[in-house]
Amino acid sequence: MAKIDFGGVMEEVVTSEEFTLEKAREVLKNEVIAVLGYGVQGPGQALNMRDNGVNVIVGQREGGASWDKAVADGFVPGQTLFPIEEAAQKATVIQYLLSDAGQVAMWPKIKACLNKGDALYFSHGFGIVYKEQTGIIPPENVDVILAAPKGSGRTVRTNFLDGSGINSSFAVFQDYTGRAKERTLAMGIAIGSGYLFETTFEKEVFSDLTGERGVLMGCLAGVMEAQYNLLRKNGHSPSESFNETVEELTQSLIRLVAENGMDWMFGNCSTTAQRGALDWAPKFRDAVIPVFEDLYESVKSGKETARVLDVNSAPDYREKLNAELAEIKNSEMWKAGAAVRALRPENRK
Ligand SMILES: NC(=O)c1ccc[n+]([C@@H]2O[C@H](COP(=O)([O-])OP(=O)(O)OC[C@H]3O[C@@H](n4cnc5c(N)ncnc54)[C@H](OP(=O)(O)O)[C@@H]3O)[C@@H](O)[C@H]2O)c1
Repeated sequence: MAKIDFGGVMEEVVTSEEFTLEKAREVLKNEVIAVLGYGVQGPGQALNMRDNGVNVIVGQREGGASWDKAVADGFVPGQTLFPIEEAAQKATVIQYLLSDAGQVAMWPKIKACLNKGDALYFSHGFGIVYKEQTGIIPPENVDVILAAPKGSGRTVRTNFLDGSGINSSFAVFQDYTGRAKERTLAMGIAIGSGYLFETTFEKEVFSDLTGERGVLMGCLAGVMEAQYNLLRKNGHSPSESFNETVEELTQSLIRLVAENGMDWMFGNCSTTAQRGALDWAPKFRDAVIPVFEDLYESVKSGKETARVLDVNSAPDYREKLNAELAEIKNSEMWKAGAAVRALRPENRK
């Protein structure tokens, strides 16, 4: 492990220079890795592992779009693609990448497929940490491990293909074989992580649920909408409001922040923008602190979990979700967004 100074706090990370792909292949050479679920994470992780030369099969329920996608990606029914339980039975590492609600529904069947010394792998601490709500309590004679890419499954694949990799956290919840950590790191490298940092199942799920509800999506969507509506209320056109709220952020500023950090961004805009942004940042920070406090408490107490399981286990969850998403798509703001995107030169050809 390499010790890295993160702003004065020393943390250990594992890179592919220290834990090489050759070493990962060696650790995994006798394993059959079954990726259960071919939704968002499943394809990214399965394809990267296959390209990295480890023995991977896919378990997916038959008859739907995800099964067809696995076939289109080159997994062969009866050889490398199986119904979920069949794949789980063949595996020594079960990579549990069904949706979190799907994991709960399938658990009794998957549990029955676990043999002594197998590893049960997650990309989220959800099922294990909220065990009272999920019922996912693994037997004592298996390893329980986690590698959680910090990005969408889509990026897990695209970053692998462009050579950049994606950062992942890793954790061991249960080490039955004494090999749990090396198995975890080998899996982390095999799925294409750029570097891995250590966490616990609990820390992973608390930070992940907070992040996606907060800055990554929930908060971002909320503040963008608030600013757009404010501008519209004050007579600005949809085009102007959308450009000042979203397009400039996604097409210009956030890319620069990604490359150089926020201090650089503040230092490289007009002095007018800089003064105002520096003055207003603490006001926004202070305004949202109570909301973030509520959010973290809701995550910690399991309230968020109850809601996720309740809503996503309903048989008509997809129809309801689609209706909710259609409302956003059809709002003036995001219709204006579609028009702005269509006007980008690359989309006008
Ligand atoms: N999305 C991400 O980028 C991301 C990032 C980091 C970690 N994770 C974690 O990775 C895991 C997988 O997430 P995901 O986003 O890839 O999930 P997802 O796209 O929602 O996965 C859906 C998969 O689960 C299957 N499924 C759902 N309910 C099922 C049920 N009742 N019985 C059998 N199969 C069922 C689906 O099959 P059908 O297609 O047939 O419905 C599909 O293969 C989760 O633990 C998630 O928290 C996800």
